[in-house]
Amino acid sequence: MSNAIGSATPYGTLPPASPPSQRKPVSLPRLAELHARGEKITMLTAYDATFAAMADAAGVECILVGDSVGMVCQGLHSTVGVSLDTMRYHTDSVSRGVRRVQGTAWLIADLPFGSYQASREQALASATVLMQAGAHMVKLEGGGWTTETVRFLVERGIPVCAHLGLTPQTVHALGGYRVQAKGGEAAALLKQQAHALQDAGAAMLVLEMVPATLAAELTAELKHCATIGIGAGRATAGQVLVLHDMLGISLGKMPKFVRNFMAEAPGIAQALAAYVRAVKDGSFPDDSLHAW
Ligand code: KIV
Repeated sequence: MSNAIGSATPYGTLPPASPPSQRKPVSLPRLAELHARGEKITMLTAYDATFAAMADAAGVECILVGDSVGMVCQGLHSTVGVSLDTMRYHTDSVSRGVRRVQGTAWLIADLPFGSYQASREQALASATVLMQAGAHMVKLEGGGWTTETVRFLVERGIPVCAHLGLTPQTVHALGGYRVQAKGGEAAALLKQQAHALQDAGAAMLVLEMVPATLAAELTAELKHCATIGIGAGRATAGQVLVLHDMLGISLGKMPKFVRNFMAEAPGIAQALAAYVRAVKDGSFPDDSLHAW
């Protein structure tokens, strides 16, 4: 069975220029509606036009141009070396891919390391670059000091997704890629930071590698900010995975919380569709995929 969603060209199969689309564009109100009625939100990373178009066609609601592009596409060992220009390039490509198929996905782009820490003004200038490349929302890592940056961006019309728990840009300070907020004090701090980020206007919050119980409590508490889990158990408002991980083509060691959706699919399009179905019906992740 073919992976293609468009017609063949001498350079490979590209998405069609203008296929019919029955779906409405995903917007902030649409995401809030899904969140309010408890329908799981689906998110995957993508870094190029073709995969972005395929994810959109599979019904993925949010496409994250993650700074994981550094590891996945650039062969870096961490996200620390990813530049704003790299993020602009990939955001532009993903945005074009989604537009090419008249797609509906909500595009989120990561503000890379060093592009928002210096000042709120630096964050605004960097976010502007990504929004002008086609992002609908930017994501930034960390809590506490980021709260005022989030407020500053949101007040200026830039939707923001926050990111707590394992924040890969600070991997050196954290001492490695490990589960965060396991203990009482660390969990209380993360909760307090999450509430502050919601109050500052963050509409989404990625929770990476935190205990499932903590993610479940926060998901129940945060009414205006949808939690998106990655290695955070099944209770979050939505789930995200790195595309190459869920297709089983990662260069590094596969994180424990990943399911390889290609293992049982005849092709990429079917694997993407299986991911959407599994998140929507709550069968991904199952409890065996997180042991913290
Ligand atoms: O960069 C990325 O891919 C991410 C996800 C892991 C959430 O931030």
